[in-house]
Amino acid sequence: MNTLRTVTLDNGKETEIFLADDLKDLSAHLGGYGRSVLWVFDTNTAKLFKQLPPVHVVLESGESSKNFTSLERILSTAMDEGLARDGRIIGFGGGVVCDMAAFAASVYMRGCRLTLVPTTLLCMVDAAVGGKTAIDFKGLKNMVGSFYPADEVLICFDTLRTLSEKEFLNGLAEVVKHALLSQDEELYKLLLTKKNEILARDGETLRHLVELSLDVKIWYIEQDPKESLGIRQMLNLGHTFGHALESSSHFGLFGHGSCVAWGTGRALEAGASLGITDKAYATGATKLFKSFGYDMDYRIGRGDWIDFKEHLSKDKKKEAGKVLFVLMEGQGKATLKPLELQMVQHLVIAKPIF
Ligand code: GLY
Repeated sequence: MNTLRTVTLDNGKETEIFLADDLKDLSAHLGGYGRSVLWVFDTNTAKLFKQLPPVHVVLESGESSKNFTSLERILSTAMDEGLARDGRIIGFGGGVVCDMAAFAASVYMRGCRLTLVPTTLLCMVDAAVGGKTAIDFKGLKNMVGSFYPADEVLICFDTLRTLSEKEFLNGLAEVVKHALLSQDEELYKLLLTKKNEILARDGETLRHLVELSLDVKIWYIEQDPKESLGIRQMLNLGHTFGHALESSSHFGLFGHGSCVAWGTGRALEAGASLGITDKAYATGATKLFKSFGYDMDYRIGRGDWIDFKEHLSKDKKKEAGKVLFVLMEGQGKATLKPLELQMVQHLVIAKPIF
């Protein structure tokens, strides 16, 4: 187990990100915690174990588990099994499992220890790092939650082997998003030049990809750990459009990452229309997403606009009642701007510009 990165968040709280050589190395580390732990899996990650650890909760896989019932199940099990405040919750899975484990750890006895083992690319480069925890509420994504960084995040690329193509692409969308937000072009160039190796999940390439992607995320979250200074919010590039699509299609149409890719496309178009984003940059970035197979040309039906608008209006990023969107001013330079509803409607319904 090697330290990959150390992240320092609010009040100097540190998260160590470790890279395990393989599943054996990962098990040896986790086995060291003994019995004062509660494990959270989902129905997919539980299958990776011949025998589950004694104290565990298995959530149904999928977004529908990000709710109060799952939270209550984890907290009830922790209480029934006598998990003490210095005990540890281990989330072993993708974004839903890690979010649920982290939310439960943040409120159990006002905070217990937390280890996250992200098993999807999406979770490795995004959800497990930075302390955001949340459940969906009243049909809206991430409406109730807390900031609670894990003590440690354990990454093992072996867990990516069984990931479906769709799930892998879900994570890759966040990596491409990070490439646009990066202060240098290394990640962008890696995505341009190593497409085949990335899609083949070549170990060395993946390590490079994950490290560069984490560096971008860490650059933003260390400067603005609680998303209160208008810096971390830039990581929401593509998310305002993307979440509205995800929620209005009841999480059924595309995965989270594909919605983010699509949303980033809309943000690039908005920026180009307003003269904020260079057209050539927007076209190149859209092409990069398309090269990995994302449907950047998707448009919602006219009849779906009311529902889409309704979900958009509930977005957390607002100024004077107007929803704010992250737009790109250039490589690594983003800005928050309110957009007229008429323009948003045009962007999500009309034919693509690029
Ligand atoms: N997923 C964006 C953030 O952690 O701020």
